[in-house]
Amino acid sequence: MSAQQPIGVFDSGIGGLSVLQALLAELPHEHFVYLADNGHAPYGEKTDLFVRQRSLAIAHHLVREHRIKALVVACNTATAAAIQELRHHHPHLPLIGVEPAIKPAAQLTRTGRVGVMATRGTVASEKFQRLLSSLQGSAEFEVCACNGLALAIEQTTLPAHQDRAPAEVTRLLRSYTRALGDFGQAPGQIDTLVLGCTHYVFAQEELQALLGPDVQLVSTGAPVARQTRRLLEAGGLLHAGPAPQTLAGRLQLFTTGDLAGLQAAAQRWLHLPPQGCQRTVIPL
Ligand code: DGL
Repeated sequence: MSAQQPIGVFDSGIGGLSVLQALLAELPHEHFVYLADNGHAPYGEKTDLFVRQRSLAIAHHLVREHRIKALVVACNTATAAAIQELRHHHPHLPLIGVEPAIKPAAQLTRTGRVGVMATRGTVASEKFQRLLSSLQGSAEFEVCACNGLALAIEQTTLPAHQDRAPAEVTRLLRSYTRALGDFGQAPGQIDTLVLGCTHYVFAQEELQALLGPDVQLVSTGAPVARQTRRLLEAGGLLHAGPAPQTLAGRLQLFTTGDLAGLQAAAQRWLHLPPQGCQRTVIPL
């Protein structure tokens, strides 16, 4: 493994671009290969076994085809289902996962009530349930499995769905936040909301407008990027520079699904020209 090799990042789709934004800012000298598994999304509503198989196939592909030096699993659902097995199959590869930031949220809340939005797969996972139990007593957690929300956010970038998708995102955000309870600063109200799926970061502004400016939204991009830096440093794998001149010079994006959707997302959230995106096939 050498410091010149790229860092692999993957998600079921475009949600992981929210983590990639933080990685690009934290690690300006690094090259990245991003894989959006749109052809097999949404992960949150698939079985654990399926998500594990996809995660292993993607990791194997990124190691073999792109010679990655580290892997960021930019997906809460895949981390919950597959991180152990990924570590088992790639014992020498620095691996960084993401999980809902309920621990930091428990420290931030002043009312003692924290809302958590995540996919059904994450909420049902043993890993998440263990994390929740370990924090019992530190805050009261209201958890909502948000079926369909990641997909609706994904569809806001797809030409065929662009007309209806934003209204569907709004409908789901209203319905799931209502299900969580009352938001605000008064005793008994939820003052902190954990975005436990990397897709939800792209609905952050709308959520903030819906819940009011005083509710704190907690996501994981920046801490995951810092953890990636620490692991690379510890392994002597940090790229020393010089920093590449353009974003296109240090980033390649691939999708197993709709190319136009990834191109639109990369343009909207990374300001990357469409040529930076390609289609690929990763069989199980
Ligand atoms: N972005 C993913 C996560 O963080 C999953 C979305 C999905 O495919 O259901 O959980």
